[in-house]
Amino acid sequence: VRPGLRIAVFGAGYIGLVTGACLAELGHRVVVRDIDPEKVRLLRSGDVPIYEPGLGDMIARNKERLTFTLDVQETLNGAEVVYVCVDTPPSASGDADLSRVWSVVRSLEAASHLRAVVVKSTVPVGTGARVRAALDAAGLGHVGYAANPEFTAEGRAVEDFLHPDRVVIGADDDATAALISELHTGVDGPVVVMDVRSAEMAKLASNALLATKISFINEIATLCEKTGADVEDVARAVGMDHRLGHHFLRPGIGWGGSCFPKDSEALRQLASNTGYHLQMLSAVIEVNNLQKRRAIQRLKDELGTLAGARVALLGMTFKPGTDDMREAPSTVLAGRLLAEGAEVRCWDPMARPAEAEPWTWTTRHESPRSAVEGADAAILVTDWPQLKEVDWAQAASVMRRPVFFDGRNLLDPAVMRSLGFTYISVGRP
Ligand code: UDX
Repeated sequence: VRPGLRIAVFGAGYIGLVTGACLAELGHRVVVRDIDPEKVRLLRSGDVPIYEPGLGDMIARNKERLTFTLDVQETLNGAEVVYVCVDTPPSASGDADLSRVWSVVRSLEAASHLRAVVVKSTVPVGTGARVRAALDAAGLGHVGYAANPEFTAEGRAVEDFLHPDRVVIGADDDATAALISELHTGVDGPVVVMDVRSAEMAKLASNALLATKISFINEIATLCEKTGADVEDVARAVGMDHRLGHHFLRPGIGWGGSCFPKDSEALRQLASNTGYHLQMLSAVIEVNNLQKRRAIQRLKDELGTLAGARVALLGMTFKPGTDDMREAPSTVLAGRLLAEGAEVRCWDPMARPAEAEPWTWTTRHESPRSAVEGADAAILVTDWPQLKEVDWAQAASVMRRPVFFDGRNLLDPAVMRSLGFTYISVGRP
């Protein structure tokens, strides 16, 4: 690839911004387009609308090669490769809503220098074939198509993009596969080329298997509670087998985020559309729902009733190191607690209130200490490292009842009990 390949990126969400910034970092000239005027205004003025380590600096140092716009024509002007990074939310039927993908595809007739369209958005298997047909019908038969799914995790997306375990490129012709491979020159990781459908499936299968590991260890944790074993030791021993690996074996209150819940539902729906019911994935999803119901039930058992109880939720984002509230377990817990008549208060260092539905029903506090004051129970929902530094002895002394549910096994049971807490965690005796 000659330096300065011109790339248009549609969508300035987590994936679009990281993709755009990293492609500019690799030396390409990138225009990122979004439909949200406020987002584009922020980006143009040098602000980054999301929190992602390293992203702001990367955008700033590549500003010669990286621009942001609302205008489709400006985006496509001279573009040789179009990256589709728009969101594909679940529709009412459970299938992914691809309307934003289609709206990009419909605009491509205006791109006179176009060589390839690359879809990074997570889409059902078979989407590439439909896009291919639409391109052909629009007189764009000469334009290549590639699926290039994203495997980055939030909070380390820039790092994951530049140093991935693998880059998956699904293309049905060699020229497109070569073009997209070359475009990744400078990325430190192996490139695997396959057909479009397999690449689409690889993304869904990867996320489903990661979610499976978590649900599996969560079920083992439940059994540990019933048998007196300690799931932390069990997970450590299991993970040391290199065939299994220690990643994604941390028990907790369940998985959330922008990918696992949406992608596992989409894969289940995709299967059922083919007439096959995915047995394991259904159980994985059910265990994840159960995990949150069990947490509420255990708290209820401890307090007698949740009606009138004051409960503090510590950590609201779906995991630490992000401001993202999408499908966060905290939202499910808050909803159930409120339905049971509890008063809910919360603390989080980074969650973006505008996107967080529970903020409208709960009181947000500036510190964990202030959130637990006068509370009957606290639930540690997100394992923010700050929660390790809290003066828990003092926190216990200001609670009405020092009941503590450590939903991430972040703290030491012996220490917390010695401070006077009734301490409950996941799968530890
Ligand atoms: C995930 C995948 O890791 C990534 O490859 C994909 O592209 C998008 O989905 P992300 O959603 O950013 O990334 O978060 P991740 O760090 O994978 O965590 C997902 C959820 O699982 C979080 O709610 C987290 O708390 C939970 N989790 C993770 C556990 O409960 N236990 C674990 O051991 C690991």
